[in-house]
Order: sequence, then structure tokens, then C-alpha cells
Amino acid sequence: MGKDVIVACDFPSKEATLEFLDRFTGRKPFVKIGMELFYAEGPQIVREIKAHGHKIFLDLKLHDIPNTVKSAMKVLSGLDADICNVHAAGTTEMMKAALEGLTRPDGTRPLLIAVTQLTSTDQAAMEKDLLISEPMEKVVMHYALTAKNAGLDGVVCSPLESEAVHKTCGKDFLTVTPGIRFADGETGDQKRVMTPAKAKEIGSDYIVVGRPITRSEDPVAAYERCVREFIG
Ligand code: C5P
Repeated sequence: MGKDVIVACDFPSKEATLEFLDRFTGRKPFVKIGMELFYAEGPQIVREIKAHGHKIFLDLKLHDIPNTVKSAMKVLSGLDADICNVHAAGTTEMMKAALEGLTRPDGTRPLLIAVTQLTSTDQAAMEKDLLISEPMEKVVMHYALTAKNAGLDGVVCSPLESEAVHKTCGKDFLTVTPGIRFADGETGDQKRVMTPAKAKEIGSDYIVVGRPITRSEDPVAAYERCVREFIG
């Protein structure tokens, strides 16, 4: 795997999601299922979208004690998602437990990536609420390196951090980057954004794109544009 456009299917129901995906005749975009859809429809939604031929990034961002995360990951590994994730803030021990839980008896497992600092957390909130006073970039790189040392495959990060993560953790360590917007599009609530073409240039491995595709008048054309700009 590598270098793909992941469509964030932030829909409230299975019906809305399948109706959206049905528009992609002959194409099977990589799909991100987040908390909203997963909590609304349950694990069956992963099996169903997978059965339609899509790869799946199951974005549930687990963060709990290691034993609980390990058990939960064991359940998720049975859903056959392609990418799962945890919060790096859960510590090395939790990330190692997640990997163990995710690994099937035959040794295979989905890719496991870590959230570093959410892009909704800024320096001020990090200092005030989390009592972390180091600069954001240093914190993100530290979390990325911790994830790498725990054996994870990559991180979710801002596209603006992709280059530095690759420098710190190596080019094979995956960067999965949301916050993507077309040059002529609206940014919405995303504050730090980048175009698919620029994300390609700085070396993101996967871009996660939601509203520029899902809210477009022609989602298939918007998806094709992302693919053209990002993959070529
Ligand atoms: O609609 P938009 O393109 O902003 O969607 C981006 C997707 O990536 C959403 O599903 C959002 O929850 C997710 N995401 C993000 N920033 C992060 C982590 C995940 O935007 N740091």
C-alpha cells in the first residue's frame, strides 16, 4: 500500500454512506470510517463496506489502559480493516499492547498508526490544559518517534509536519494527513491546510479528504481531481 487518497466518510448512517459510495462506478476509493458512523452502525459497517471492495482506515483513536486497548484491538483485527489507530499519548506500553492485540494468529495485522497531537489542539491549549510547555513541533516529533520505537507503522499528522516526521522517523514511516483543501476551495474549520499537489510534493503517504469530496456537487470529479493532483 502507499500513496492513496482516503475519503473521510463522515456520514450519520449506513444508507447515506452506501448511497455516496455507489456514485463511484468502477472506482473503489479507500474509505475512512470514524466514530460517528461506527457508533451509529456498529462493527458490521466495516464488514459491509469492505465487502463492497473498499480498503478501510478505521479511525477510532483508541486511548485506554494497555490491557483494554489490547483486547479492543483483538476485536478490531477481526473486522479486516486496513489501517487502525491509537493516541500516542497512551504511551509506549499502550501502543505495544495495541500492536499485540491487532496481530492475528497467522501473524498478519492491519497497519497501526498513532495520533500525535490533534490538529485542533494548539500551543496555548497544550500548555494550559495538558501542562506541556515544549514547542508543538518538538512534541509532535517526540510522539512520532515514540510511536516508531513502539513498532507502529506511522502517524496521523498535519501535512505541514509530514516532512519533519519523515526526517525524524525515516521515509518508510507513514504520514497520513488530513487538512487537505483545493487551491480554489473553502477551508471550513480546518485552520492549517494544504492542497493535494503540495501534500504530494512534501511527501505525505496518504491524504485524508472529507468535505472537499463529500460536500462537492460532483464528488466523483472532486475525488478524481484529488487523485490526479496527489498521485498523478
Ligand atoms: O472534511 P475534512 O476534509 O476536514 O475531513 C478531515 C477528516 O480528517 C475528518 O474525518 C476529521 O475528523 C479527520 N481528522 C482531522 N484532523 C486530525 C485528525 C483527523 O481533520 N488531526
